[in-house]
Amino acid sequence: MSAGEPPAPLPGARLLFSLDPAVSYLNHGSFGAVPIGVQRTQQRLRDEVEANPHKFFTQGLLDRLIHTRRHLAGFLGADPDGSALLPNTTAGISLVLQSIRLESADEVLVTDHGYGAVALAAQRRCRRAGATVRTVGLPLAGSAAEVVSRLRSALRPGKTRLLIIDQIASSTAATFPVREIVAAAHEHDIPVLVDAAHVPGMLPVDVAAIGADFWVGNLHKWAFAPRGTALLAVAEPWRRRIEPLVVSWEQEQGFPMALEFQGALDYTSWLSAPAGLFTLRTLGWEAVRAHNMALVEYGQRVIGAALGVDPADLPQPTVPESAMRLVPLPAGVATTPPDAIALRLLISEKLAAETAVNSWHGRGLLRLSAQVYNRPDDYHRLAEHLPALLATLRG
Ligand SMILES: Cc1ncc(COP(=O)(O)O)c(C=O)c1O
Repeated sequence: MSAGEPPAPLPGARLLFSLDPAVSYLNHGSFGAVPIGVQRTQQRLRDEVEANPHKFFTQGLLDRLIHTRRHLAGFLGADPDGSALLPNTTAGISLVLQSIRLESADEVLVTDHGYGAVALAAQRRCRRAGATVRTVGLPLAGSAAEVVSRLRSALRPGKTRLLIIDQIASSTAATFPVREIVAAAHEHDIPVLVDAAHVPGMLPVDVAAIGADFWVGNLHKWAFAPRGTALLAVAEPWRRRIEPLVVSWEQEQGFPMALEFQGALDYTSWLSAPAGLFTLRTLGWEAVRAHNMALVEYGQRVIGAALGVDPADLPQPTVPESAMRLVPLPAGVATTPPDAIALRLLISEKLAAETAVNSWHGRGLLRLSAQVYNRPDDYHRLAEHLPALLATLRG
């Protein structure tokens, strides 16, 4: 079957990045990639810090943080007074977990698409309270209605104290109807934490309309911010209860500044994040999204065909605009997390391609991303050489 036509590249977009041209960088999803202009912005800020560190930290820094928070919250449709800048989604998850009340009969509900480190954080929090983490299974590519119905029947009112749901899952690239899920949980007064690590910059979002108790997303993946930039949005009733993980000088100010100012840290990532949004807007954010969606679908078809996957078996997210897609690997490949890591390293070393490889319920899944610096050839190269590499594993 033909893979169809790839999208036209966005003129000049590739030159905005400092990625090694010898590598097919097909894993924007894991750690993002910072455009050169944003790197320069951050360097200028670091120069400013080093020209007079005392002045930087004591004259106007808090106002600059507030201004940045407003800018980023505005982009995401979040209430700027109900949002806090954080270093990453991981930090946001732990903040929320330690702020909810949990007793020994209680549980935190997660799904089998959730991020590994998030599950670890939930386990530690529950262990300390004598509570339980329960995992609900969701299909690899289920319909929105199916997902909502499974979650609805998994909720245990009076016992489930928090539901953690991904907006875009990491290992499966599945997208979940978070607004409907929040509404279903709220029917039973169960709070919801939305892990939206991949959402800012990838999908248009109106955080306030989702209605979650907590929503946290990284700007350092798809919104071109330097690493260490995330936003946690907290619904009004919870703001008083959110305690910073680290106590510093702004503790008495409460949410959000007590979370944001954590002493002598490098705040230049946050202050550079608006330059990431500027880059997106300069390229044309709609054009970026259309390009990335069309290219990742093309890449999925090309690599799926090379591995002999029936096109009907290529999982499609319920939100097609997502810039990540899966290609299921042949049976017996990457069936365990160590094997998945080994295969990712092998692809990196032998094929000069960066990909995400995960093992999910014993199935090996190759996750592809597309970003404006990618070209169809990145996927063609992988498609040409991956089958032979996989054959060496099986034979
Ligand atoms: C769904 C999901 N949650 C949380 C994280 C953690 O993000 P960070 O390492 O930036 O905290 C990731 C990272 O890839 C993720 O994909």
